[in-house]
Amino acid sequence: MDVDYPYLAKPYHGAKKGRGSMTKIKIWSEETFPLEMHKVRIVQKLTLPPVTRRLEAITAAGNNTFLLRNQDIFLDMLTDSGVNAMSDRQQAAMLLADDSYAGSETYFRLEQKVQELFGFKHFLPAHQGRACEHLLAQVLVQPDMIVPMNVHFTTTKAHIILRGGQVVELTCAEGMQVNSRHPFKGNIDVEQLEDLIEKEGRERIAFVRMEAGGNLLGGQPFSLANLRAVRRVCDQYQLLLVLDASLLADNLYFIKQREQECAGLSIRAITQQIAALCDVFYFSGRKLGCARGGGVCLRDDSLFAQLRELVPLYEGFLTYGGMSVREMEAMTVGLEETMDEDMISHGPEFIRYMVEQLAARGIPVVTPAGGLGCHLDAAAFLPQVNQAQYPAGALAAALYLASGIRGMERGTLSEQRDQHGREVFSPLELVRLALPRRVFTLSQIKYAIDRIHWLYENRQLIGGLTFTEEPQNLRFFFGRLQPTSDWQTALAAKFQHDLGPF
Ligand code: F0G
Repeated sequence: MDVDYPYLAKPYHGAKKGRGSMTKIKIWSEETFPLEMHKVRIVQKLTLPPVTRRLEAITAAGNNTFLLRNQDIFLDMLTDSGVNAMSDRQQAAMLLADDSYAGSETYFRLEQKVQELFGFKHFLPAHQGRACEHLLAQVLVQPDMIVPMNVHFTTTKAHIILRGGQVVELTCAEGMQVNSRHPFKGNIDVEQLEDLIEKEGRERIAFVRMEAGGNLLGGQPFSLANLRAVRRVCDQYQLLLVLDASLLADNLYFIKQREQECAGLSIRAITQQIAALCDVFYFSGRKLGCARGGGVCLRDDSLFAQLRELVPLYEGFLTYGGMSVREMEAMTVGLEETMDEDMISHGPEFIRYMVEQLAARGIPVVTPAGGLGCHLDAAAFLPQVNQAQYPAGALAAALYLASGIRGMERGTLSEQRDQHGREVFSPLELVRLALPRRVFTLSQIKYAIDRIHWLYENRQLIGGLTFTEEPQNLRFFFGRLQPTSDWQTALAAKFQHDLGPF
């Protein structure tokens, strides 16, 4: 059977309209599935604790998946940050690391690769993505300034607010719709951007921020055309365009797949076009480059001079910026590997498989499938749970009980109360099941689908959560909660009845 699934041995050019230009393989069975274009050469043993242990563990963790211990977790889908699988080439490069406080050759190799791929005059290293945000906010944000953006990220927003600034999110209308056919839900609304600048005056705008692979939207990309339109607005008002490229790998793949004018371009060429449109480009190497670190690329000499002063103060000397030399070597190779379509397709294609399989079973998920992970729509999954009882937090706890899978709450729990102590209800109640790059096999994904299906069939057993300990800041990291009734005991008992201990 000839299937309409774009897997993927070698790209060929000028193929089907609108679906990118991927080679297809013929498969014999009915089901279509993505294929891993790598093999596993180092493994880590996993254990699947029985449901009785899972109930103990989630109770001990205060129903907060951040507080679970790894030994109690079967599949860790908390994040794709710092947990991607390294390639053999990355591991090999780590042995070549040149360890010195100043002037390390390792650093110059990284700097050269960054300049080759992204084409900026200057590069500054930092220990991870939020450190880049800290440096940029220190220099660019003054009290009462505004930073318009396609979508915020938690740490970005916190750094801007700490400086007395304000974030204005101008996500396109489709971005906030759980289900849509829009291929670029991460686009910014360009008209609203212009209106905002006109209304507030360009002096109040610190910079315009675009985030690749919109994390909090469910890993949704922006289009190259949208970024071009933002560039035009920035030129018109002489504003800096800053790109958060942490999730660029996914965004690149979607541009190639979904944006017609880019179907025949190489990933390298698309990367160059994106970078050329930006004044500043920063990234978390924990995502982009599959190592642990980060950096800021920029063109302007005077901005460079201002930022450079802060690097030794907050990060480390200019030739390591808080990173280990081994990780820098791995990042240099990891960034180059990002130009390989086989590498960057793995996450999005596995996520798409998971999303399509869940949707086919009637389970509410964010569509179209994005990068980063599969996102369950907890509001639709658990309509019986009041938003004040944290449906996404409850679903994350229930999923751990039913599977040993750890996801992350991305809803009201991840918000902060306002200054009067009132809840700020999130427009989206999601549970994120992140797929770190090259880590999980297809059978593990099938296990996840199967257990989510069981949970969906038994969703009426799931209740809400309430805080027992609620920190004022970043409560989703440290807060502890309890179930509003004995629903977790009932759910564990039903699981045991239907499926046994595992
Ligand atoms: N920007 C985006 C878009 C991110 O997704 C992250 C991290 C950061 C910046 C900060 O980078 O972690 O290296 O300091 N996202 C992680 C996540 C934490 O789980 O989504 P960092």
